[in-house]
Amino acid sequence: MRIIKKLWCCEWVVFCCLFLAALVASKNHGNPANDLVDIINKNRTAVKLSQLSNNPGLGCMALQYVEQCKGNCSSNNALTCQPSEDDFTEVFAPNCGVELPTFGSVSGRIFGCQHKYLDPSEAFLHVIAQNNKSVSLLRNKTFTEVGVGLVGVHKHKGPYFWCVLLSNSQRNSTFVLQDLGEGIKQKKGCYSGTSTPCSDAHDVGVFPNLVTAALISVYFLEIFL
Ligand SMILES: *[C@@H]1O[C@H](CO)[C@@H](O)[C@H](O)[C@H]1NC(C)=O
Ligand SMILES: *[C@@H]1O[C@H](CO)[C@@H](O)[C@H](O)[C@H]1NC(C)=O
Ligand SMILES: *[C@@H]1O[C@H](CO)[C@@H](O)[C@H](O)[C@H]1NC(C)=O
Ligand SMILES: *[C@@H]1O[C@H](CO)[C@@H](O)[C@H](O)[C@H]1NC(C)=O
Ligand SMILES: *[C@@H]1O[C@H](CO)[C@@H](O)[C@H](O)[C@H]1NC(C)=O
Repeated sequence: MRIIKKLWCCEWVVFCCLFLAALVASKNHGNPANDLVDIINKNRTAVKLSQLSNNPGLGCMALQYVEQCKGNCSSNNALTCQPSEDDFTEVFAPNCGVELPTFGSVSGRIFGCQHKYLDPSEAFLHVIAQNNKSVSLLRNKTFTEVGVGLVGVHKHKGPYFWCVLLSNSQRNSTFVLQDLGEGIKQKKGCYSGTSTPCSDAHDVGVFPNLVTAALISVYFLEIFL
């Protein structure tokens, strides 16, 4: 009887360890949209340009932007995506909860797609800073704010879409999200300027997979008892 109790205890310790490992893994995963903003800023400061403020209102609209073009990734990873100018104020801002009186100017945009998921540093090289035109946009010294959004079409499956929006509006007072963004929950993808991790994007699978692993190992321990 005592032995069985001990084994039970053991089992729970194993389960808890795996569960904690899963939690840590999912925490460390973070938000690749914020990683991209950091990479963009490192690239700017390397040539003595100011850092751009990471604006969640712009980030959320960047995600909305690519949401509209999810059917438009060609087999050679070229993206046609030109929503109308009015969509910014009529669709993207309301969907994000951006307060219209604080809507600034969106003066630069970069977007692209890839059929396979790219880590932030690869996405920077192959999608965001892939040609001279986008590199010179990223290094335009009149810009003050940036927002990045990314999304995959299917869970754990591409194609994946990235968008960067740049603004030269006054920092911290433009593209303000209602209720400090509390009311806004994007159903898919992720955007910069928030600590919310991606939902349904490529890498959130880590957490459920590890929980499954923990449950399976508990199951096997059970058999040996
Ligand atoms: C900035 O990005 C460009 C384009 O990818 C790259 O060629 C350059 O080496 C980067 N600079 C730094 C300091 O990372
Ligand atoms: C998607 O591609 C089609 C065909 O090239 C184009 O007509 C349409 O405008 C594109 N969608 C957006 C939002 O740009
Ligand atoms: C891009 O910029 C580099 C360095 O400024 C230059 O050598 C190269 O020719 C440019 N490429 C194109 C396609 O304009
Ligand atoms: C920087 O952006 C501003 C505003 O969009 C534009 O007028 C200007 O030509 C750009 N400068 C460079 C060097 O690209
Ligand atoms: C904008 O906000 C950030 C973070 O809250 C702060 O560090 C920065 O100094 C502010 N910039 C301006 C121009 O107010």
